[in-house]
Amino acid sequence: MNLMEQKYDLSGKIVVVTGATSGIGWHSALEFCRCGASVIGVGRNEDRCTHARAKILAQVPEAKIEYLVADLVSQREVRRLAEEIKKALQRQQAPGLDVLVNNAGTFVDRLTLTEDGIEKTVAVNHMAPFLLTQLLLPEMAARPDSRVITISSGSHYHTWLNPKRLRSPLLYNSLWAYKVSKLANVLFSAEFNRRHTGESPRAFAVDPGLVNTNIGFKGTGALARFVWRQRQKAGVDPSIPASTILFVAADPAALQSKAVYWYLSAPRQPSRAASNPQLATAVWQESARLCHLEK
Ligand SMILES: NC(=O)c1ccc[n+]([C@@H]2O[C@H](COP(=O)([O-])OP(=O)(O)OC[C@H]3O[C@@H](n4cnc5c(N)ncnc54)[C@H](OP(=O)(O)O)[C@@H]3O)[C@@H](O)[C@H]2O)c1
Repeated sequence: MNLMEQKYDLSGKIVVVTGATSGIGWHSALEFCRCGASVIGVGRNEDRCTHARAKILAQVPEAKIEYLVADLVSQREVRRLAEEIKKALQRQQAPGLDVLVNNAGTFVDRLTLTEDGIEKTVAVNHMAPFLLTQLLLPEMAARPDSRVITISSGSHYHTWLNPKRLRSPLLYNSLWAYKVSKLANVLFSAEFNRRHTGESPRAFAVDPGLVNTNIGFKGTGALARFVWRQRQKAGVDPSIPASTILFVAADPAALQSKAVYWYLSAPRQPSRAASNPQLATAVWQESARLCHLEK
């Protein structure tokens, strides 16, 4: 496809997409490549990264796409990834990072603690985006109109979270843990904008809707797989949320709006809990503590 046929010309822009080996992340990486951006995809498995890159090049032969491998379940790996991204930016002689898409996400159906002692769903879905964003802040601040986009979910509605129990819940429920992580994504984006008002980057949370991906089949048991098989069929193609991600990343209208939460390329009201500034501050402080960052 010709760049002239694309809605956005992102030539000269550098974009990082985590979880770019499948589903929404892969489709987003493809769309960014189609628009001429230089894309750094992140995956947790070398072979899947190689395969994902080849599939993009098959559709966009001129794509500027490379992949980095990191398992975002570990803060040590997130820190190493940030250094690798900085080296990649230097190699490309890039003046900074224009877009960070925190898309990698997981659903697990049993209580698992990471090497950092954090419940795994919260570690991958919330702590990794929080930490990676902080570590890449100088590179993003160096670019005008840069944006941090974190993929949340409509499952954040009807959920509350206790910041003191962010590390691990008193009573574990897999769906609850997932909802908590997605509520934390919206709270993080809102608090980020309060702390960086009028500065670059701006933070956004994207609700992809129900999407036909394999997220519910990865490392889950028979019941979770059965439930996801039923739900998955009602999901939209991953290209639909990918176009919202592209819109939020590239369209001037996204920056003109004050909205944090976006669905189908339009602002949407997040839940009451997600709009609570005291809760957002408390979650930020606890996340910083758990990531060993200054508050
Ligand atoms: N599907 C839906 O209906 C839906 C609805 C709302 C929100 N979301 C959110 O959308 C995002 C993308 O999900 P998806 O539906 O596209 O699922 P997916 O196809 O399973 O994609 C998830 C991506 O994250 C990667 N990933 C998972 N755990 C990781 C880890 N520990 N370290 C590094 N990468 C990791 C996966 O790698 P592998 O390829 O190696 O598995 C994959 O690239 C997630 O944040 C999810 O919560 C999805």
